[in-house]
Amino acid sequence: MRFRRLTPRMHALALRRLLLFPSLFASLLFASLTTPTPASSSAPASTPAAPATLTIDTAAPGKPISRDLIGIFFEDISYAADGGLYAELIQNRSFEYQTTEQPAWNNLSFWKLVTHGDGKGAMFLDDAIPVHPHNPHYIVIDTSATSDKNTAPDTATGLMNPGFDGISVREGENYNLALFARQNFTGGRWDKVRQTGPLHLLARLESKDGAPLAEAPLTVTSHTWTRLTATLTATKTDPDARFVLLLQTRGGLALDEISLFPAKTFRNRSNGLRADLAETIAQLKPRFMRFPGGCLVHGNGLGNMYRWKDTIGPIEQRRQQANLWRYHQTAGLGYHEYFQFCEDIGALPLPVVPAGVSCQNSAYQGGTGQRALPLEDMPAHIQDILDLIEWANGPATSVWGARRAAAGHPAPFNLHHLGIGNEEHITPAFKERFTMIHDAVKKAHPEITIIGTAGPFWEGEDYDNGWKLAHELCLPMIDEHYYETPGWFWKNLHRYDTYDRSKTKVYIGEYAAHDARRRATLRSAIAEAACLTSLERNADIVHFASYAPLLARRGHTRWNPNLIYFTNTEVYPTINYHVQRLFSINAGDTFLETKMENAAAAPATPPTDTAAPILAAAAPDVAASAVRDSATGDIIIKLVNGAQTQRAINISLAGLDPKKYKTNALITTLAGPDADAVNDYDSPATILPKDNTLALAPRFTYDAPANSLTVIRLQSLR
Ligand code: AHR
Repeated sequence: MRFRRLTPRMHALALRRLLLFPSLFASLLFASLTTPTPASSSAPASTPAAPATLTIDTAAPGKPISRDLIGIFFEDISYAADGGLYAELIQNRSFEYQTTEQPAWNNLSFWKLVTHGDGKGAMFLDDAIPVHPHNPHYIVIDTSATSDKNTAPDTATGLMNPGFDGISVREGENYNLALFARQNFTGGRWDKVRQTGPLHLLARLESKDGAPLAEAPLTVTSHTWTRLTATLTATKTDPDARFVLLLQTRGGLALDEISLFPAKTFRNRSNGLRADLAETIAQLKPRFMRFPGGCLVHGNGLGNMYRWKDTIGPIEQRRQQANLWRYHQTAGLGYHEYFQFCEDIGALPLPVVPAGVSCQNSAYQGGTGQRALPLEDMPAHIQDILDLIEWANGPATSVWGARRAAAGHPAPFNLHHLGIGNEEHITPAFKERFTMIHDAVKKAHPEITIIGTAGPFWEGEDYDNGWKLAHELCLPMIDEHYYETPGWFWKNLHRYDTYDRSKTKVYIGEYAAHDARRRATLRSAIAEAACLTSLERNADIVHFASYAPLLARRGHTRWNPNLIYFTNTEVYPTINYHVQRLFSINAGDTFLETKMENAAAAPATPPTDTAAPILAAAAPDVAASAVRDSATGDIIIKLVNGAQTQRAINISLAGLDPKKYKTNALITTLAGPDADAVNDYDSPATILPKDNTLALAPRFTYDAPANSLTVIRLQSLR
């Protein structure tokens, strides 16, 4: 263990990260999307700023830039996977919830014994004969106490599961039930009674008051584990239904892996993803997807690392574990599903594997809890990583390619990038293990682009050492992270202008502009838009960038802000989501020389909300970029006004031949008068992009609205 040399600024940053770590300060994190917005932060009455001047050289060939700049980072944080994107409707489906995940949890959490009529019985946990050793616990229902005389059809004993804050069902929709069941002995240790005859079950979806919404019978005839399936068709819509499984026969029944999925998942895949959430993500048109974390990857202590092999194969055989963000990972959304999703949405897969050390915040030691795998364990760890590449890219005849093919994907998944580690402290132990993994992957798979880490912050000792290691190893790419104030983003628009183009490229794996209330405000979205103009300008060195985190479930938010919030029935894209989308769908592959003059309004806008970081006097408040998309020939200009007042921008399209473009350019504006505006649960559409057209001219003045991102697309006639 090594103590870090921290500057006062780094102390502040470290404290911020620590505050974000789940156990210590969890309660601080539950500031939800509905945090009250202060009354409109009245823009100070001021004299209009002098116009800014933007000159874009449309005739020069321009600079080639990454076409893959905008992607997504999916981490299983804030119920992003289980209870989120993963469409499973049953919570604790395999009875593996643990007290170590949440103090009030145990294996039977979210399951309740229910009786109908004169039914009598008990439920208990067992692990004597599991479905699979990776899934050791199951539940037994014993109804032998029900009197022989009570044979009325409504006599039954069973289980109820409320799903994740209720189960949302829609009239006419099908729900696919699958479970493992076997007949079980009843009675005590010395007087066990073997079940004879079939056990009759009734699976139901019902409303909170017990009214049936769907029913399907099942019969258990075997003493060995058998997978049974049924389809439940909802006769009514109910956003708050529950699942009930009733044993209608006297006897003993063992159950495990009780799973219920909507038949309609994203692309109708089995073990699939929630269609509305997946579609919202797909609409971002991300060029890549980094997964499965984040801190989740290196885990809380050495035993909690994310091991990809535990997440493939039949769901009942996957090894579940505690999620570092204090809940449960079924691994139902595992590597196969991640890669499949990438393929479905046209994103390059970018898995991140542990670098052989645990999270420095493990056991909540606030930056000093990093543990390293013993060196004798590293060969096996490295082999797992090499096997991952074979699993993703190898032919179906290879050992691991065959596993992929057996799961229904004989064609390779086309893995080109691999992240090793996630914002670790760059300790000697880290360096040693990272280098071992790097060397082995580079030797066996020179075709893979390895992505290292520059530590948790945008500057400081880890940042310096991470970059030093990257240069020593001639790493192709390194991952930088920053969660900073909107003002920081505006002040750092030239951060990458001076990065050495001949060396390691940059992946900004996690970034977001945070105000002091940690909300996804228009101010933060506009600061991110300004940042993105600078990333486009520098996309010859910045290859990838992804906002973080992506998803958060209302009521289970472990981190704020996030790009997309959701409940069981609704999806709430933030204003920041629209910024990401506008840059993504308006990407180019050539940057056009752009000169902005008079970018800073004087004086700088004073703070109207003491909690909100503001633009420093020295920072600009307008930013712009211009790219050409070789696929369409279109030229796309992005203009960002961070001031709370309208700003005139004199635009000159130098060298433009208007005959080559449609007379009307497309113009999309994302703007609002109140920088504190949020798209929240009560008003999800406060700020939305608005489309229009603009008469094309080589010179024109554009009045950029207050707090705005404007995208102008010159449509090529080519
Ligand atoms: O994005 C949330 C967390 O922020 C990630 O897990 C971690 O990498 C960073 O600290």
